[in-house]
Amino acid sequence: MNNHTVVNERFKGNDRGDVKSYLNFIDGEWVPSVSGKFSTNVNPATGEILGKAPQSTKEDVDRAVLAAKKAQKSWRLVPAPERAEVLYEVARLLKERKEELAQILTSEMGKVISEARGEVQEAIDMAYYMAGEGRRLFGDTVPSELRNKFAMSVRVPVGIAGLITPWNFPIAIASWKSLPALVAGNAVVWKPASETPFIAGEFVKIYQEAGLPKGLMNLVFGSGGVVGNAIVDHPDIDIISFTGSNEVGRQINERAGRLLKRTSLEMGGKNAVTVLEDADLDLAVDGIIWSAFGTSGQRCTACSRVIVHEAVKEELEQKLVKRIAELKIGNGLDEEVNVGPVINRSSLQKIDKYVKIGIKEGAKLLCGGKILTDGELEKGHYYAPTLFTDVKPSMTIAKEEIFGPVTSIIPVKSLEEAIEVNNSVEFGLSSSIFSRDVNRVFQAMRDFDTGIVYVNAGTTGAEIHLPFGGTKGTGNGHRDSGVAALDVYTEWKSIYVDY
Ligand code: NAD
Ligand code: ALA
Repeated sequence: MNNHTVVNERFKGNDRGDVKSYLNFIDGEWVPSVSGKFSTNVNPATGEILGKAPQSTKEDVDRAVLAAKKAQKSWRLVPAPERAEVLYEVARLLKERKEELAQILTSEMGKVISEARGEVQEAIDMAYYMAGEGRRLFGDTVPSELRNKFAMSVRVPVGIAGLITPWNFPIAIASWKSLPALVAGNAVVWKPASETPFIAGEFVKIYQEAGLPKGLMNLVFGSGGVVGNAIVDHPDIDIISFTGSNEVGRQINERAGRLLKRTSLEMGGKNAVTVLEDADLDLAVDGIIWSAFGTSGQRCTACSRVIVHEAVKEELEQKLVKRIAELKIGNGLDEEVNVGPVINRSSLQKIDKYVKIGIKEGAKLLCGGKILTDGELEKGHYYAPTLFTDVKPSMTIAKEEIFGPVTSIIPVKSLEEAIEVNNSVEFGLSSSIFSRDVNRVFQAMRDFDTGIVYVNAGTTGAEIHLPFGGTKGTGNGHRDSGVAALDVYTEWKSIYVDY
């Protein structure tokens, strides 16, 4: 059976003949899990079952690691510019299939189609960027203290990278991790989120078609508790790169820590837009709407707090309420829709619980605050874009990550107070300031305690050429994307040559 037949095989219907089925990809073959069991994924906009992917086991992970270990032995010897050639081909194929991938993404996790196109573009950009790094991968030479001695340091691959990724940016984040890992000479064992198996399968298919040698990219579907833990605990996996919730990230760090295994952890956010009294309010409204309600608020960088100078609070509130009323909610495949569904029913209930807590703690609800069930919306998982005001930094909705279309206005009297409120949360991912005063902007750039700062733009939209990630509860200091990503997947080796 040639590769194309195998790839096409995974689309064959199941016994009901109506859904697609994916298999694991191990050692260059699409193979079933030893468990023989599958779980289904659902379109959050319609409730329709889309397909099924294996519920894999520790044995599947063991097989993937064996294949990765063997393949990495030769891959690390391939010159990095030659490894990069595969990435250029990945970039080309992603570009060619951009629309198809975006449609899959929207069907599977609900973000509106324009955002899905943007996400695939991030993967394309990352592929080109990391392919370029194959011609750099710079080390250092330094003058030795001694005569006739040459001193240098070089980057070497870590070995096998275990990637564990979330559903909210299922191809972008997978690209931020797998591309630098591979160009640096590692092999990969990847567990995507259970909610988004299709886009994961398609991404791996692209690696396969781009000519990546077998065994270097291994895809193992399954639950976090079984497959995720098996990856974290496996003695031959050298580094765990995880993006997801704070709770799971902490557990992974503890387990990996016992094995002295390197971890790169990118977790939640509680990001704020600060609006000063001299801001262009219409521009600020654009930034807030986009970053609070884009991807239905399910971005790690989502704006879930709006810190506003009291002098412009009322005017900002009115403008925001008006704009929110104009948002069209529905299935993200409809080009007119601005806000799609949230990922599943339990997420819907969690968001609603936070809204009820907000009301109970005394926040004033300006709009939204309910699950939407009108007409077609009843079939999916929709939450009304929600705006609270008169929120205090001590309230639960101002502190915890809600991960839904909910944002809270917190009034302040000065920039200094805004900085204090911005920094008062457990997380440190993204922040933004709207102001026309360059001095105050620079003060905020210096004092906001987050990995990313935006000026006169919302809290979302990071590109791939700068380090992406956060401080405090958001991350452990490593970064996805940008040249900094290579630090995650390489070790330094110092070499002295006497001559
Ligand atoms: P999640 O933590 O529930 O799951 C993330 C991944 O971890 C999934 O693949 C899941 O199956 C796996 N997992 C779950 N339990 C595990 C365990 N015990 N051991 C190993 N793996 C396990 O997160 P999610 O709901 O998929 O994603 C949303 C979260 O991700 C939010 O908190 C969001 O802020 C965060 N996120 C962060 C960034 C960032 O770069 N900082 C980017 C996107 C999303
Ligand atoms: N690029 C995405 C954002 O910044 C992850 O929200």
